[in-house]
Amino acid sequence: MSLDYTNQKFVLDTSDHPQGSVTWRSPSNLAIVKYWGKHGRQLPRNPSISLTLDTAHTTTTLHYQRREQVSSDGISLDLMFEGVPAPAFAERIRRYLESIGNIYPFLRQLHLTIHSENSFPHSSGIASSASSMSALALCLCSLERHFFDSLADEQEFLTKASYLARLASGSAARSVYPFMSAWGRHGDISGSSDEFAVPYTDALHPSFKTMRNAILIVSSGTKAVSSSAGHQLMETHPYAATRYIQAGQRMSQLLPALQHGDWDLFGQITENEALTLHALMMASNPSYLLMKPQSLQLIDAIRSFRADTGLPVYFSLDAGPNLHVLYPDEHADKIESFLEAECIPVCENGVWIADKAGEGPKEILE
Ligand code: DP6
Repeated sequence: MSLDYTNQKFVLDTSDHPQGSVTWRSPSNLAIVKYWGKHGRQLPRNPSISLTLDTAHTTTTLHYQRREQVSSDGISLDLMFEGVPAPAFAERIRRYLESIGNIYPFLRQLHLTIHSENSFPHSSGIASSASSMSALALCLCSLERHFFDSLADEQEFLTKASYLARLASGSAARSVYPFMSAWGRHGDISGSSDEFAVPYTDALHPSFKTMRNAILIVSSGTKAVSSSAGHQLMETHPYAATRYIQAGQRMSQLLPALQHGDWDLFGQITENEALTLHALMMASNPSYLLMKPQSLQLIDAIRSFRADTGLPVYFSLDAGPNLHVLYPDEHADKIESFLEAECIPVCENGVWIADKAGEGPKEILE
């Protein structure tokens, strides 16, 4: 069954002249089983599951005031990213807000000003669409709640925020929940859906709720392939059909490991998923090679350290050259000494971010 959030009743009365703001801080996330390939209106070709981060987040404030004249030219928006106007980002958001006009018709009655900032360094190569789009979606749900007294139920609120975040960027759907979150229909996760993500927290072994994630910055340059272009490549990819089946099977293997605290199996799947994503990009037409020599050097160093010490430390990658190193909290001292000695010197300007599993988004009240 498909959700229908279309609602022509979400309009402000002529006598209403609201003015105010809402602020949400929302984290980035790291996919363990990767979403790579989409169809229709932002629907995933396969299920995915991710770790919700903590340190890497976006804070978005949405200011609103009644527009005197509602014109047919759609959304009235100003957007500042880290204190300065960001025309390209503003255009993307304006198009997104227009695209959800049948869900939130009241948006056209307002003038909106968005201030958005990231906790991580500008162009650190960390994907910011998950954190920024989820923060915006949460702000929109807060507006709905405020104007129309709806979404009082927390679960309903988060389901809708995840749905709206997905329409802006697929991976953003997963950022609204603490610790881990799954998006895309999968037989082993009851209530899972292609339209919104669900939390994967109750079944999660405690050692994964305190998981550390060191982000090693290999290159802060912009990505050679945007995610949208990457998803598009899958439409004609020779391995696509097999890949989608594999992703579902890996979910089935991973879930018991997450429940039982099986770090070995978690690590095997995590590393293989990261390399599969890159292998898919390398075998695409056109082909993309997003890892750098330093990415491979770091992978080698992590695998050797693991073989020598037997410690559970594993890597993942997004669609870029930076490494995410994952390990249990209880081994953080030893593993971070190794990172400091052998990995950080390989990073661009020695930059890394000490992140960990996070508790999910927070509304910031004045
Ligand atoms: C490699 O969510 O950025 O990070 O839906 O087009 O906005 P759009 O794509 P996006 O893709 C993320 C791809 C990935 C894997 C993942 O996060 O699952």
